[in-house]
Formats: sequence, structure tokens, C-alpha cells
Amino acid sequence: MNNLTKKVSELSKRRGFFFQSSEAYGGVAGFQTFGPEGAELKRNIEESWRNTFSRELGHREIQAPTIMPEPVFKASGHLDGFDDMIIECPECKSSIRADHLVEDNTEIEEAEGFSTEKIAEIIADHDLECSNCETSLTGIEVEDFNLMFETSIGPGNGQPGYLRPETAQGIFVEFPRLKEYARNQLPFGITQIGKAYRNEISPRKGLVRVREFTQAELEHFIDPDEDEPNLDKVQDVELKLYPVDKQGSGEYITKTVEEAVEEDIVHNWVAYYLGIAKKWYKEIGVDMDRFRFRQHQKGERAHYATDCWDAEAEIDGDWIEIAGFAYRGCYDLTKHHEHSREDFTIFKEYDEPVTKEKTVVQPDMGYLGPEYGGKAQKVAKKIGELAQNSPEEFEKEAVNVEVDGEKLEIPTDKCNFEVKEVTESGEHIIPHVVEPSFGVGRTVYTVLAHAYEEDEIDGEERRVLHLSREVSPTEVAVFPLMDKDGLGDKAQEIAAKLREKGFSVKYDDTGNIGKRYRRQDEVGTPVCVTVDYETLEDSPETVTVRDRDSTEQERVEISKLVDYLR
Ligand code: GAP
Repeated sequence: MNNLTKKVSELSKRRGFFFQSSEAYGGVAGFQTFGPEGAELKRNIEESWRNTFSRELGHREIQAPTIMPEPVFKASGHLDGFDDMIIECPECKSSIRADHLVEDNTEIEEAEGFSTEKIAEIIADHDLECSNCETSLTGIEVEDFNLMFETSIGPGNGQPGYLRPETAQGIFVEFPRLKEYARNQLPFGITQIGKAYRNEISPRKGLVRVREFTQAELEHFIDPDEDEPNLDKVQDVELKLYPVDKQGSGEYITKTVEEAVEEDIVHNWVAYYLGIAKKWYKEIGVDMDRFRFRQHQKGERAHYATDCWDAEAEIDGDWIEIAGFAYRGCYDLTKHHEHSREDFTIFKEYDEPVTKEKTVVQPDMGYLGPEYGGKAQKVAKKIGELAQNSPEEFEKEAVNVEVDGEKLEIPTDKCNFEVKEVTESGEHIIPHVVEPSFGVGRTVYTVLAHAYEEDEIDGEERRVLHLSREVSPTEVAVFPLMDKDGLGDKAQEIAAKLREKGFSVKYDDTGNIGKRYRRQDEVGTPVCVTVDYETLEDSPETVTVRDRDSTEQERVEISKLVDYLR
């Protein structure tokens, strides 16, 4: 473990930010518990994200289940394609993520997009060894490993289900209801903050690669021919960009959002969200000198994405992906439209009615029902799609459609195919999706690592977290100099009043005052208020207020404390 990573992990364990789960039973890799400070910090980050990406943009938030049935993931492509590459050591049987092995031991920065064969070739060329027992891995097969956790829903053999690997699918599958809620008007955005699960091959670095984690995702549904982002809101925001053609050189380009769009470096919708995200990260305390947006290489992009940029934060020389911004096109809604029995389109009205030739079918349900039972509706839907996409097929005696992986042949005379002249007031379109997707745990970790500093105060070394006030778990700590002579009662009274006014307050009367300051510095409390003997003597009464970052102290009247803190 590198230096800063080690220090942040140690502090996090000792001060209750995050630590290995179920340690009493030996623990299991990839699961972390947020302690009292960490849970509060995480909640504050989530609340801040909610304000920025949901409320302020006029989007709405949903909460969908974390377990979903198998057909959802068959349709989304996760069952077939949500894989990482694995290689098993023939000696110690460790499972190793093969692309990471390559990245960690060669000059190659990004190997995720390579094929299993290419990775095996690189392993052989460099004679790479098992990271655990140093056995050579040359000639060992590299395989795909599906990252989803499978479960069984209901008693007995039940119905197969999966823990969602991204919160996004919970939004996509509910699109037919959500579009109704949005009164069939594009654009609209739906957000969700919740758990996602991935059976990672090699979990690592505390919160960075875990098997259960929180995502904050926004799915913005748009009409690609009509809807434009409100670039005015972010046009001057400067982005530090690491586009594909610069990767490997370590050189960045700095562009405003407006320039990045005009020069065709970033897709306009993606650039809009990069601008909003950059402002937000700065606000919650991510160090902008250790932050960049990196474009995905072609092979690295997820199966659904057409353009994708990651927000990355540097910690100990490693760049960690903390969020992804993808233009997902109409991939997801099209897949669910094809695989489910619901309609995932939006009816888009024309300015004026249009008359055109249209292919229509009226499948004979009296034939399809007895022939295909429960599948009859899906067969009819497929026939309808075929009529629109390939009308020439109906010139044959029978048409072929595929339903749930089964190839079916339907006599054309049971389809009632016709070409009609129709006047239409609009058309059904499948919306496109722009998706900013944030890892909350990785954000918490970045905020902690970037806030961490060691300095010297009055000749004494201190560890301090310069957390932004927006997210610090405690806003103000209140101490009595000593718990006697009425100082404790006065301090309790002040703490209660501040809590009443909505501050998150910690009361501490144990140990000497210097130690109490150090404790609060280590959990990032921006302000400490101390009640001392002067408090009782002064009229009006005053307290000492100490600033975490400068450690300067000043006296403030108790009656003005709330305004002062605000
Ligand atoms: N819906 C898109 C999606 O899930 P992703 O890039 O796979 O995209 C989004 O994940 C974010 O979730 C990442 O940028 C990262 O911050 C976080 N994330 C992904 N896998 C993670 C893991 N195993 N542990 C912690 N965070 C993870």
C-alpha cells in the first residue's frame, strides 16, 4: 500500500470512516462498512449530489429494487457481456484479473478493451507471474468471468434473479411508467442513488474496488433530433481533458465546455454534464490539481456506450475512475422494447399531420393464440416490427421471427399485411440516453485522501482533514474547558441550541483541550467552540471559536454564534 493510501486507511479505521466488514469472522474481501463518521460523510455527499444532479436540474429520483429477474439482464446484455478477464494461477490457485496484471506490470495504461487472446499473448511476451506466488503465467488460458451475483427468487428452485450490477437498469425497465409520469414529454431525467453489486475478481484498496457499492446515477432521456443541453449554464467551466489521442503522453488539453463542444472533442450532452460535475467535485473538496476527464478508448467502452469520458482522481500516483459519463444512445430502451411486452417508445407529435405510405399488419390471434400460447403477444409484436423494418419479407409464403431465442415461421396469410396510405399526427421514437454515473464510495475515498494533510502546530505534528463544509460529518464541536464550575452546563446549552438551529454538533468533554482539538481535526470538523472561565465573566457572554485550517481563535458573543457560524 502506498503512503497516502495507508495513512487514509489507518485514519479511517481509527476514527470510524470505513473499515473491513465482518472482521470478527475473518472478513471477506470486497465488503466495507462505513462507520459513524464515514456514513455521515457519505450521506452528505449523496445529499449534495442529489441537490446538484436531481433537484437543481429539475429531475426526479426513484428507488427500484436491487434484485431483478433474469430476463432484464438478458435484454440489457449484462448476462452475455458483463465480464472481466480472469487468469488462474496453476500453483496457488489465486484468481487474478488479467487486464490489471498487464497494466500493473507493463507500460500499457489501459488493457480492459483487449481480447482474452491478446492479454494471454502479452502475459507470455512479458513472462508475467502470479502476483501471489510468482509462478509464471505464460501459456495459461485467460477467460471471461461474468461479474453478476446470481440468486434465486422464491422457494425451491425459484426463479433466477441477479443483484443489479448498476442502478441504471432499475430506471430503464420502469421507462413505460416513467414516461407516463413525464406526460410523454421529452426531455426528462430520472436519478437514483442506491446499491450495486459486482463479483469483482480482485477487490482492492478499501473503497476503490468492492463487491457491494453505492452508485448515484442520472438517466437523461432526450430526443436526439430536437433536444439540446443548456450549455449557457456551464460554457465557461474549464475542463482538464485527456482525450484518446493524447493518452500515453501524459499531456492534457484544457478547454472550456463551450470550446470542447465547438471543436468536436466532447459530445455536447456529455460536455454539459462534465461541466456540472467539475463544479460539483470542486465544491465537495476534490483537489482540481489531481483531477481530470479521460476519454474511453474504443475497445474499453461498455457494450452500450457511443462516447464515454471518466472523471478520474489521482491518489498516490494512481488515477482512479470516480465517475463515468456515457452517451448510451437508444441501446437500452431498444433492448427492453424488443425483449419485454411493454412499449418503450415516446409518441412525438409532428408540427402538421403527414400523409405517407405505411406497412401495417393485423396478425390473426385466432391462429397465434393456440399455436404459441403465452408467447402469442410477443410473436404479434415481432411481426409488427418486421413489417416496418423489412416489408419485402411479406412477399414470401412465410415470415421468420425470433422470440425468446426461438426461431419461428409464420404463414404470411396469418399476418394480414397491407400497405396503406395514412395520415399521421406523429411517430413513435425511442429516446436516447445521456448517463452521468458516479461511484459514491470512490468519491468518499477521494474526498478523504485529497483532504488529508500532516502539518505542525506549536511544534506538534497533527493530522488534519481539510474537508469542505458542504460534506464534513460534524459542522461544529462544542467543548467546556473543564466539566466543572458550570462550564459543562453552559457548553451543553450551546450544543443543544446549535442542534436546534440545524447544525450537526459534537459535544466532547474528555481529555485535555489540545487532544480534543486534534480529534476534531482528524475527522475534519471545521469549527470548535470552547466555553471557558471568560465565558461566565464576560457580559455579554462569549466563547472561543477555533478554525480548523488556520487554527486561529477568536471570541464571539454567544448570542451572535449562530449567525457567525452560518
Ligand atoms: N451505469 C453505468 C455504470 O455502471 P461503470 O463505469 O461501470 O458505469 C460507474 O460504473 C461508477 O461506479 C464508476 O465510475 C465507479 O465510480 C463506480 N464503481 C464501479 N465498479 C465499482 C466497484 N467495484 N467498487 C466501487 N465502485 C465502483
